[in-house]
Amino acid sequence: MSAGGQQIIILKEGTKREQGRDARRNNIMAARVVAQVVKSSLGPLGMDKMLVDSFGDVTTTNDGATMLKEMDVQHPAAKMMVEVSKTQDDEVGDGTTSVVVLTGELLGKAVELMDKKIHPTVIIDGYRDAQEQALKILDEISIAVDPKDKESLKKVAVTSMASKLVSGYSDYLSDIAVDAVLQVAEEADGSKEVDLDMIKIEKKPGGSLTNTALIKGLIIDKEVVHADMPKKVKDAKIGLLNAALEIEKTEFDAKIQIETPDEMQAYLDQEENMLREMVQKIKDAGVNVLFCQKGVDDMVQHFLAREGILAARRLKKSDLEALAKATGAKVVTNVDDLTAEDAGYAENVEEKKIGEDKLLFVEGCKNPKAVSILVRGGTERIVDEAERSLHDALFVIKDVVEDPKIVAGGGAPEIEVAWRLRRYAESLEGRVRLAVAAFAEAIEVIPVTLAENAGMDPIDALSELQAAHEKGEIWTGINGLEGEVSDMVGIDVYEPTQVKVQAIKSATEASTLLLKIDDIIAASKMSMPPGPPGGGMGGMGGMPPGMGGMPPM
Ligand SMILES: Nc1ncnc2c1ncn2[C@@H]1O[C@H](COP(=O)(O)OP(=O)(O)OP(=O)(O)O)[C@@H](O)[C@H]1O
Ligand SMILES: [Mg+2]
Repeated sequence: MSAGGQQIIILKEGTKREQGRDARRNNIMAARVVAQVVKSSLGPLGMDKMLVDSFGDVTTTNDGATMLKEMDVQHPAAKMMVEVSKTQDDEVGDGTTSVVVLTGELLGKAVELMDKKIHPTVIIDGYRDAQEQALKILDEISIAVDPKDKESLKKVAVTSMASKLVSGYSDYLSDIAVDAVLQVAEEADGSKEVDLDMIKIEKKPGGSLTNTALIKGLIIDKEVVHADMPKKVKDAKIGLLNAALEIEKTEFDAKIQIETPDEMQAYLDQEENMLREMVQKIKDAGVNVLFCQKGVDDMVQHFLAREGILAARRLKKSDLEALAKATGAKVVTNVDDLTAEDAGYAENVEEKKIGEDKLLFVEGCKNPKAVSILVRGGTERIVDEAERSLHDALFVIKDVVEDPKIVAGGGAPEIEVAWRLRRYAESLEGRVRLAVAAFAEAIEVIPVTLAENAGMDPIDALSELQAAHEKGEIWTGINGLEGEVSDMVGIDVYEPTQVKVQAIKSATEASTLLLKIDDIIAASKMSMPPGPPGGGMGGMGGMPPGMGGMPPM
């Protein structure tokens, strides 16, 4: 940098700086590479990816957000794409591949416009205007549904699973997901709210996916601590304790002088009495099922068993909290304080053998909004992917329950939005019109990619789709399984409007943000403190050394 002929150095040695055209194009290129990677996994016939992390652990998935989370991307613009898919996942749970593909295409079209000497600020204005229109169009074409109608909810769930490894079981799993969400849905001034944290997912490899079940209550991955305890308690009065049921060891070295056998006996008796008292306290509180976060002394186990009390030890803190929420029990920190009021309630607590393991089922809880899904499946990888697919399904059902509007899928809404956007663009004057038209073209990347991944000729498919929409067939899209253009309503492919809305919003935001950047200042790699893994845009220093050398597009 120079001022008045004299050079002023304000950046540290080794800092890389890129400006203007190069900076922007390199960012765009990096972002588009990410989009390219996930593109082939979009839709029901999309491919899966196998990801191997630095520890050698393998994840096989089709889920956009999962793929990107597992990929260790370095470039700041590429990291932004990862963030975009994470936002989509956090907000609506599905469409995490679509949003990345769409962002990549919006950037691609922007490059074409910049090549025609259209300034980025004009493109940004056009994209924002187009986004607003697109959201209006989506609202116009959306179909209102009854949030209690299980059939509609199931259709969106099945669609969300169509692209997953477990799609063969989507019918079965969707029924479970719909029941789970409806069970926890809560009325909140007129509309409904769903807290997905109320649905606990417990995984156990073994059996088949059709052994997956909805439990109206909680599953605790622990077994009854003593063989003589009951394995099943009806009308359970549940005590929750986060202290050990043991005699505390003294903090300091203490010496106890015992000289006669009588003294020895007295000492042991006293210890036993203390343990007995603990059990008496539990009994007095009317508790017949005890969950303890810490250890339980052998003798206490024995006394508890004699009283017919079922107990489990070393529970996870989160399990204790979930039990408190579900059964209405209060977590007590000292057994001396345990009273009848602290106890929670469940109709039935039972140890059941699932595969090789024994689990505790706490069913018919005081709070009926506590439910669990026990996921079963042949191997650990299947169970993991089933859990991820259930996450998507539960989320899309929640989306529709909370905002009961849906659109057909298979790229039909995208073609319709594009078609109406083009007509809107015609009403505009000046260069911004080109940007709106480019946005329309970009959004067609979804049906085009679906066609490609279904083995169709994308150009033929697109023109066929456009012709149908011209005739007013708004739900004509790509039948991704048959590889043909057809009416999506006829094959029950539906998605929440919210998923489309969020994808358009996030993709517009991310692409315009990247278009605005005209300066990348990266500290030299050596001097950067190690950033948090996968830590968003923060770590500009993570740029690969070769970045400056990327060919201009
Ligand atoms: N049977 C089908 N025929 C055609 N398209 C379908 C069918 N089922 C789903 N789709 C479409 O597939 C697209 C979704 O694909 P996919 O689930 O792979 O990606 P995503 O939802 O964007 O991301 P992710 O599920 O990884 O978060 C949607 O556009 C949806 O309408
Ligand atoms: Mg999906």
